[in-house]
Amino acid sequence: MTNSRPIVAVYPGSFDPVTLGHEDVARRTLRFCDRLVVAVAEASTQEKRHMFPVAERLEIMKEVFAGDPRVECVSFSGLLVEFAADVGARFIIRGLRAVSDFDYEFQMAQMNRELRDDVETLFLTPDIHFSFLSASLVREVAALGGDVSAFVSAPVRERMRRRFAGPGSA
Ligand code: PNS
Repeated sequence: MTNSRPIVAVYPGSFDPVTLGHEDVARRTLRFCDRLVVAVAEASTQEKRHMFPVAERLEIMKEVFAGDPRVECVSFSGLLVEFAADVGARFIIRGLRAVSDFDYEFQMAQMNRELRDDVETLFLTPDIHFSFLSASLVREVAALGGDVSAFVSAPVRERMRRRFAGPGSA
C-alpha cells in the first residue's frame, strides 16, 4: 500500500501532571508518526480531583515538548474521536502499564470505535521503569512532601515547587 499522507496521532489524557511515563510513550510514538498532537482533556471519563487546571497542564506540556516541532500541545473538549478526526489523526495513542489498565482502556477503545471506526486506538507500553508510575501517585507523593524528581521533568517540578512552597515563595 502506498500512502504519502503524513501519519498524525493524538495522545490524549488528563496529564495531571504529565509524568516521565507519559513523555516516554509520546517519544515512542514519534518513532512511527510524523506529527503528534498531545491533547489535554478538559473533562475526563473518570471523576478526578485535579492538581493543576487545564490551562496550566497545557503550559507545562508545551514546555516539556518545546524542543520538538513535530509535537503540538492543545487542550480539547467534547468527544475525543471527533477531535482526532478534526486534527487529521488516524490514531489515538494510549499507554498500557499493566493488566490493571486494561478494562478501562478496552472499554474506551471499543466505545471510540463504535463512535468512529476510522480512528484506530494504539496501545504502547512505557519503559519498564515507568510501569508503576501514575499521575495520581505523583500527586499524592508531592502533596505529602515526598520527592517526585525521579518521576516528572523540570517544568512539572517547578510548578509543584511553587504550588507547595506556600505564599510569598513564587
Ligand atoms: O488520562 P485519562 O484521564 O485516563 O484520559 C482519559 C481521556 C481524556 C482520554 C478520556 O476521558 C476521553 O477521551 N475524554 C474525552 C471525552 C470522550 O471522548 N469520552 C468518551 C470516551 S470513550
